[in-house]
Amino acid sequence: MPRIFSGIQPSGSVHLGNYLGALRNWVSEQHEADCYYSIVDLHAITAEHNPEALRDATKELATTLFAIGLDPDISCLFVQSHVPEHAQLAWIMESTVTFGELSRMTQFKDKGRGEEKVRASLFTYPALMAADILLYRTDKVPVGDDQRQHIELARDAAARFNNAYGEVFTVPESMIPKVGARVMDLQNPLKKMSKSSSSDAGLIYLNEDPSRIAKKIKRAVTDTENKVAYEPTNPAKAGVSNLLEIYSALTSIPPEDAADRFSNYGALKSELAEIVIEHLTVIQSRIKDISGDPSELLRLLKIGAAKARATASSTLSDAKSAIGFLAP
Ligand code: TYM
Repeated sequence: MPRIFSGIQPSGSVHLGNYLGALRNWVSEQHEADCYYSIVDLHAITAEHNPEALRDATKELATTLFAIGLDPDISCLFVQSHVPEHAQLAWIMESTVTFGELSRMTQFKDKGRGEEKVRASLFTYPALMAADILLYRTDKVPVGDDQRQHIELARDAAARFNNAYGEVFTVPESMIPKVGARVMDLQNPLKKMSKSSSSDAGLIYLNEDPSRIAKKIKRAVTDTENKVAYEPTNPAKAGVSNLLEIYSALTSIPPEDAADRFSNYGALKSELAEIVIEHLTVIQSRIKDISGDPSELLRLLKIGAAKARATASSTLSDAKSAIGFLAP
């Protein structure tokens, strides 16, 4: 079976972009592959954060991941800081990738822009992400489009390390869905839907109230043409193309065909709202069930961390030996 690894940051609630771009694939792949999924809390301290909120977000995220269908009997879900091998291999990865490569990461440029006190870890974060992936000798990494460049770096790091010190790592491939890989903000369809957005009017959260979801979709920015067409590369049609893409991701109807079904934006928006709400209410009721038993949640995360550690420690030990560290 191929090995899969992916991660998500516990910073804010899960939104529709996370779900359609990555998490849905996490669930569907669990029967096809040997899956390791991580709540990457080390990554969540690369920007200013609140410790209590981080702890709460970690538990909320674990609840959501089980609610969307991750099965603890077949997938390994764990919290990154419970597996210290991540931070240890990250140091080796920082000594494998170069300053120039990290400087070219567009996400660092986007997130760091205009910030006065950028944490050093925001800059070195892609090295930690490479470590996350390589520790599990991962074949495939299900992610949204925004992570493409980071996975390229992990591939380069794996190949470079193997070349220099011997075959330790598997060179991973990204797994990016055809539809839904880049869900855009409903209020600013030229920007991706993102937890770090200044307003949440353009985001739909998985745990959001149905009436708010309907309102947000109704108010989604489109254009004045009122012609339902899927033209993803045309900035003037970015809003309606995004709505069609979300529609397509949830119905499996290709976005071009979906466009033919609607004669105006109002009709598209109201059917889309119905479909999104239908999907999310199922998840929301599971979130409620799981939230009722927090000790079970912690028990499952402990089992996940033990399984992850067994795999991670064996890879780390091979990497340390290959790079020339004296065994204790
Ligand atoms: P994060 O926490 O920002 O996002 C989690 C996943 O959601 C995807 N995603 C989107 N997909 C489509 N449209 C959007 N608007 C959208 N916004 C987010 C992301 O692509 C991601 O797959 N660096 C990663 C976490 C990470 C990781 C890893 C991922 C750390 N280590 C190792 C894979 C492998 C991140 O910040 O994702």
